[in-house]
Amino acid sequence: MNILLVGSGGREHALAWKIAQSPLVERLVCAPGNPGMARHAEVRPEFKATDAERLAAFAREMKADLVVVGPETALEAGLADRLAAAGIPCFGPSARAAKLETSKAFSKAFMERHNIPTAGFGVYERPADAIAALKVFRPPYVIKADGLAAGKGVSICPDARDARAEIERMLGGRFGEAGSRVVIEEFMDGEEGSLFALCDGKVAMLLGGAQDHKRAFDGDLGPNTGGMGAYSPAPVFTPELVERVRVEVVEAVIAAMAAENTAYRGVLYAGLMATADGPKVVEFNARFGDPECQVLMMRWADDIVPYLLACARGDLGRLPAPAFSADTVICVVLAAKGYPDSPLEGSIIRGADQDFGPDVQVFHAGTRRRDDGQLVAAGGRVLNVCARGRDLAEARDRAYAAVRAIDWPGGFHRTDIGWRALARDEEAGD
Ligand code: AMP
Ligand code: GLY
Repeated sequence: MNILLVGSGGREHALAWKIAQSPLVERLVCAPGNPGMARHAEVRPEFKATDAERLAAFAREMKADLVVVGPETALEAGLADRLAAAGIPCFGPSARAAKLETSKAFSKAFMERHNIPTAGFGVYERPADAIAALKVFRPPYVIKADGLAAGKGVSICPDARDARAEIERMLGGRFGEAGSRVVIEEFMDGEEGSLFALCDGKVAMLLGGAQDHKRAFDGDLGPNTGGMGAYSPAPVFTPELVERVRVEVVEAVIAAMAAENTAYRGVLYAGLMATADGPKVVEFNARFGDPECQVLMMRWADDIVPYLLACARGDLGRLPAPAFSADTVICVVLAAKGYPDSPLEGSIIRGADQDFGPDVQVFHAGTRRRDDGQLVAAGGRVLNVCARGRDLAEARDRAYAAVRAIDWPGGFHRTDIGWRALARDEEAGD
């Protein structure tokens, strides 16, 4: 098979690594790709993930049997729609179905219509209306930009003064078009987790869960980021919780989307809060999580390609659930100093591509290879150091040993990835 994989982050490097292991693959092209992905595939840096028309034309030209879309920006740009028009199977939803992620106002109204458990909310376009609405909510106030903001469009404000300032900032153009409407939500208290399901438009297959670390610094401090680390499995997902999410969220979404004539194909990422009243949806994403994808790919035991193709073709129902290894996998994100506000570019990275043995993988995200061959930072999140172990403590020790072996003075990372689950183990006397 010929496969085109769209994207250039750590998520896509992990997907490329996994897809390249399939005996079904004759040719794998990554557009735009990154220097890490060049180890497993042909990379085509001349494309942008949002070049829907050019990418669809290229997919036709390379006779792609399947296109796998990594990032939400490509979905929003209508890549899946163009591929559908060209008759090329695509793993990833249409722009309309991707609104579950790309418009929080759409996604909240959809959940309300279909009784999918989530926080109470209101949507506002005018600052005065949003500020007046603060009276119906209790602090802390959760204020969100409607559109895509790379995981940075949410503010949790301790008091009304802060909330007012945030509303004025967002509606005042801080996120451009993405902030032309704001959503104000009830604050949900609980532990968060991300659950992933493959969908073919009609049926859903749960892949399992992971826990992300959204804040930039140790102790869950500092600004929200795209994610600073993850691990899977995550003990927050007890079998009872997973069963409730399967019925109340995942299957409900797939059925409701089909009923609304917006069949959902690809991966559904449910960001969840385990509250005292049961699971509630924080957000949906229409793609794999980054860095959650990296840990899921390392646990996924079977060939992934038949699953991606079945989602695209609409015949997932004939496959058994894929096998996942019982190991725990952890991912530590190395980010450029200054991330998330203003990451410094161009600093030299040494030792990222050494052989760390079978239990460790280093996935590239924002890296660039200079003309002299030197690897340098070229983005916010730059490398993902992933390791497996029999338990989380073993995985963590292996990952941090590899982090120490990478020489990159221009980067930083969190030293406490996995702390929640490790604290549980300690409590249980493990
Ligand atoms: P989102 O981009 O919607 O996932 O939000 C980013 C982060 O903000 C989430 O991962 C949560 O930690 C937090 N958050 C979002 N909505 C709520 C809410 N209603 N209550 C509590 N925390 C929230
Ligand atoms: N790690 C969070 C996300 O991918 O949205």
